[in-house]
Order: sequence, then C-alpha cells, then structure tokens
Amino acid sequence: MKAIVVGSGGREHALAWKLLRSPHISEVVCIPGNGGTATLAGCRNVAMAMTDVDGIARCALVNNMAFVLVGPEQPLADGLADALKAQGVKVFGPTQDGAQIEASKTWAKDLMAAANVPTAASAVFTDAESAIAYVEQNSVPIVVKADGLAAGKGVTVAMERGNAIAAIESAFSGQFGSAGDRVVIEEFLQGQEVSVLAVTDGKTIRPLLPAQDHKQVGEGDTGPNTGGMGAYAPTPLMPAELLERVQSEILEPTLKGLQDKGIDYRGVIYAGLIITPAGDPKVIEFNCRFGDPETQVVLPLLETPLEEIVLACCEQRLAAMPPFEWKAAACACVVMAAKGYPGSYEKGLPIEGIEIAEADEAAVVFHAGTRIGNGGIKSTGGRVLGVSAIAPNFEEAISKAYSAVDKISFPDGFYRRDIGHRIKGMSLAE
Ligand code: AMP
Ligand code: GLY
Repeated sequence: MKAIVVGSGGREHALAWKLLRSPHISEVVCIPGNGGTATLAGCRNVAMAMTDVDGIARCALVNNMAFVLVGPEQPLADGLADALKAQGVKVFGPTQDGAQIEASKTWAKDLMAAANVPTAASAVFTDAESAIAYVEQNSVPIVVKADGLAAGKGVTVAMERGNAIAAIESAFSGQFGSAGDRVVIEEFLQGQEVSVLAVTDGKTIRPLLPAQDHKQVGEGDTGPNTGGMGAYAPTPLMPAELLERVQSEILEPTLKGLQDKGIDYRGVIYAGLIITPAGDPKVIEFNCRFGDPETQVVLPLLETPLEEIVLACCEQRLAAMPPFEWKAAACACVVMAAKGYPGSYEKGLPIEGIEIAEADEAAVVFHAGTRIGNGGIKSTGGRVLGVSAIAPNFEEAISKAYSAVDKISFPDGFYRRDIGHRIKGMSLAE
C-alpha cells in the first residue's frame, strides 16, 4: 500500500515514520513534507500546496494511494477532506462540517452544551463593549478566546482584568482577521492539562494513550504559549479509570453530538482536557487532528500498524478492530526551537549531528521545520526538531531524549531542560 500524508511538521514526519514501519506500507508521499520526510527511507516529498485540492486528488488517484491522512487543521477547515472524498479518495480527517469542532470555538461550545460534555462556563460576544462589561462583572483569572483559527495565538489566559480587556480589544480590532469577529470568554479552570487523542470512524470512538505537552516556552511553564515545547506519554496523571470516564463522559457524548448534527466524522478528535483539583476531566478545547508534539510521543509507543487504524476509520470498521496494542514503555520528546520563537526568529539556521543522535536506537529525531539543501540541513520554522526517546520508564526516556539533544549541534536554537517536570518521580503504573 502507498499513502499520502499532508503537512510539513514534526507530526507529519512522525505519521510518515510510523506508517513506514508497517510491512504493508511501501511508500509514503508527503505533501509538502520537510527535511526529515525527504530523508526518510520509503518517503518522498511532493512540492504541492496543501490548498491544491485537485493536485492532491490527482496524486492520490494516479498513484493508487490507499488513503490520504491530513495532518494540520487548516486544510480540513478549508474542506480538503470534502473535496477528496468527492473525487473518490479515502481520507482520514473530518470534512469541513466536523472540522468546526476546532475551527469555531463557539460551535464547539454549543456542541458540548447540547451533548452535556463537561467544559468551562463561557459566554460569546460579537462586540468589544459587552465583552468588556462581562469581564468587569467576573473574577480573574479569566480566559479570552478568538472564535476562529488563529495559528495558536487566539487564547489569552488573563491574570488581570487589564490583560483580558486588551485581548478583547485586539481581537475586535482585527488582530486575527475574521477569526476574532466573535470572542468566547471562559471561566479559568485550574488543574493539570492532558491531551487525549481519540480516533473515530463516525460510529465508534477510541482513545490513544493520554499525553501531556508543555505549551509554554519557558522552563517551569512560564512565558508565552507555543505550539508545544515537549511532550510525554502515557501520562500517569490519567490512569485507566480516569480515561474510562473521559471515554464515557466526553468522547462518546461528543461523537453522539456530531452524529445528531448529521456529521460523518472520520479522523482524530483531540480533547484538550483539564483535570480539576477534584479529579474531574473538563474540556478546554477540541482539535480536529493529531496533536503536535503529542503524536511524536504517542506513535512510537503504538504497536498496532497505523494504517490498520486509519483504514478502519475510513471504512467504518473501528468497532470490529481488536484493542490497539501498546509498548509497555514511556516516551518523551524535547522540542528544539529557533532562538526568538514564539516571537520572531531567523530561518536558514544550520543543524548538524542528527545521525549521531539517532545512533541510540531508543531515539528518533522528528523534523518539524527543516529543509535539506546543498549545505546540509537548515531550519525553516520556529519549532525545528522534536527529539523523542523511548525507555521502560519516564526517567530513562527523558534522559535518553536529552542525551540525543546533546549530540545535535544547533547553535542558534534552544530547548527547555525541564520536560516532564510535572511527572517527576512518577512511574508508568501509577
Ligand atoms: P487553546 O488554544 O484553546 O488550547 O488554549 C491554549 C491554552 O490556554 C491551553 O492549552 C490552556 O493552557 C489555556 N487555557 C485555555 N482555556 C483555558 C481555561 N478555560 N482555563 C485555563 N486555561 C485555559
Ligand atoms: N500540542 C498542542 C496541539 O497540537 O494543539
């Protein structure tokens, strides 16, 4: 079988890498891919825009691709899955209607309210004045969210009213384009954040191993939010009983809510959860895709061939699939980013030593923002590499990931040295 992965990040490198570990996958085409997928054996990059729906469909049909797996949210929100399906191509990733679960926070909030899914209390505003009045009546911290896709920058957790008001004003003054035409103001939820990525065929939904990422740029979880500076799985903060509650209180009702709207959702529902101090899981956001860098720690632990899961979802056979198999191990990922990220940063920075880092079989370096040129590997983005390692326990997995990072020369880069601090000393089974 051959397959297409759409996207160019670390998540897509991990998806292509995992697909190619199956004996049934002979080739993966990445559209457009990155420096890591360009050098991955069995993988080929095709320089086509993710918006080139007809080009992607043609590539899938001409090459007899078994399926197209869409990585990022934007093409899904733009209707890539609808267009491919219309041309007879199997797609893993929701159609435009389902992608609203991520592309519109108000839509997702309405879905949760209708399906009785626990989430933060919230109100929606279409003008700054009433939003500010609401903030003035409520206590802080309070969370201000642009309704639409804002490249991860649309959420402000305001510790003071002034910050909330500034966020409201900038959203309504067009900072996020039409994504900020509506603003959700939400109760601040305290607790640990856990990412549960679940796969669904529209009828059945099943979680993958729960993961945690480090969203903030600075050590000790400080500074501005990023796409994720590191991750680990399976987090011991979500033991099996709690994951069962997530399944029955969140994932199944959410799928039912989608079905009630007539949406045939086949792909990933990523539930971003907070475990409250009372131990209850509540949704803070949904994404319509795999997480990044969560994918880089969940897939290395997956024993079941990924294409079996993807095809079971595309063909609505998930209920008949045996339970997914997992390595009894821990996986950690340290993200290496360009200095300045998530603010402005330089591109074209040189990186060396990746092969040396990967000499340890436990380690794998997923490229997030790189290209291969005459002069070797150069950065193309803010998040540049995700260095993952697997081991029987977290302490070793984290230490192996950092040993691999130490072998990489990226003089203009930086990384957090405290990935996994929230689970320090905890074992897999806890
Ligand atoms: P989102 O883009 O919705 O994932 O939000 C970005 C980050 O803001 C989340 O990962 C949380 O750390 C934080 N956040 C969002 N909503 C809330 C909330 N209601 N309470 C506390 N933190 C939140
Ligand atoms: N790691 C956060 C995300 O994928 O949205």
